[in-house]
Amino acid sequence: MGYVGLPLAISFAKRFNVLGFDVNQVLINNLQHGKSYISDVSPEDIDRVLGQSFCPTTDSSKLKDCDFLIICVPTPLTKDKKPDLSYIKGACEIISGFLNKGQFVILESTTYPGTTDEIVVPMLEVSKLKAGKDFGVAFSPERIDPGNKDYTIDKIPKVVGGINKECTKIAALLYASIISEVICVSDAKTAESVKMVENVFRNVNIALVNELALIFENMGINCWEVIEAASTKPYGYTPFYPGPGVGGHCIPLDPLYLSYQAKRYGIMPRFIETSAEINDFMKVHVVNLIRKGLNRKNKKIFGSKIVIMGLAYKRNIEDVRESPSKDVIEELIALGANIAVFDPFAVSIKTDVGEFSSEASIRDAFREADCAVFMTDHDIFKKIDLFEVGVEDGLPIIIDCRNIFEKCNGYNLIGIGRGDINNTSIYEDSN
Ligand SMILES: NC(=O)c1ccc[n+]([C@@H]2O[C@H](COP(=O)([O-])OP(=O)(O)OC[C@H]3O[C@@H](n4cnc5c(N)ncnc54)[C@H](O)[C@@H]3O)[C@@H](O)[C@H]2O)c1
Repeated sequence: MGYVGLPLAISFAKRFNVLGFDVNQVLINNLQHGKSYISDVSPEDIDRVLGQSFCPTTDSSKLKDCDFLIICVPTPLTKDKKPDLSYIKGACEIISGFLNKGQFVILESTTYPGTTDEIVVPMLEVSKLKAGKDFGVAFSPERIDPGNKDYTIDKIPKVVGGINKECTKIAALLYASIISEVICVSDAKTAESVKMVENVFRNVNIALVNELALIFENMGINCWEVIEAASTKPYGYTPFYPGPGVGGHCIPLDPLYLSYQAKRYGIMPRFIETSAEINDFMKVHVVNLIRKGLNRKNKKIFGSKIVIMGLAYKRNIEDVRESPSKDVIEELIALGANIAVFDPFAVSIKTDVGEFSSEASIRDAFREADCAVFMTDHDIFKKIDLFEVGVEDGLPIIIDCRNIFEKCNGYNLIGIGRGDINNTSIYEDSN
């Protein structure tokens, strides 16, 4: 019942009886009281189906009566950056304990090609039933984009690949009941690969544009203006934008799943790994920009008050998983900064150096700040009048990682990819 499972369950509950099973009692308590913890699912959405076609539970014994079992558990990385399939295995273990003839298991968790055939099927066959004959198995990648109001679950085409043709057909029929377009592919490993390709594509392109931002920054060229102009080409170009690094449960992790499997097949995935390194480096670059910015005021990171604006990894959502803000905070604390944070959606962020809770208002966050770092481009940040919030206590240096502020209006501002790093005249103007 996480970011993927809950919206899916609510969608299916419009047509079928759905059990929302999770091992996390807190989430289930919330759902049982009609409370949502995911911005894409409103309490009204839950209310419409709760107690009728939707039943949240932690009781796995109820699962034995389900026709379809859809696994939407996390697929993180281990400490040494290898795929952590423990949650998938945990779910399969529960299912194999009660699996009956005629039941159908679908994996939606993002994972490397081969997981369904190599891990899921053997674990389910511990039940002594035969996959593809006694019970069905398919893989169908989840493609939701949290916070995206235009592409809700029913409008995103669904890719399905079963362990045989019949399984593909059955899984496709199920999804076609709630989703307008279903695409059947040859098998489960092809469906697994589709998701890998989608996220590798994003990761590589973001890395490319981050590298371009670093190059143009030093040449005094505004990378954002370059991208805007390049985007006028009507074919052959797709715009991606630089930033402080990638976050969330998908883009930073999924490419490393493919990378892991590629190496097992004897291929060194250089592009994929280089992209991850460049995107990771952007967090170091943010700290470097903060240092340069403070230097303009003859200050250093040690002892300065630095405000992190935006804890979520992307705009207008509350999800802080793998957020670049976490690493930047940790590094700044290690360098002796005093940190305040503000995010209109995410209440707090847990880091290795403690938990940081959002200040009540932007004005509170900016009080006596030496530097404000805009990590996320939440819509409300675009409406900030920097002079109005900062002027009382002096003007903090602004580090704009997302090109939020088009003009600096005499403010002391450095932006990723804006080509204004070495331009000290802005500071002189504001004095
Ligand atoms: N969040 C996204 O935007 C997104 C998009 C596409 C794909 N995905 C993929 O979907 C999968 C799920 O991601 P998520 O964001 O929903 O994760 P999540 O952490 O929000 O939710 C996963 C849920 O699974 C539960 N869980 C763990 N083990 C369980 C078990 N054995 N039985 C029942 N429940 C169990 C957890 O308690 C948690 O509530 C991941 O593989 C992710 O990569 C996520």
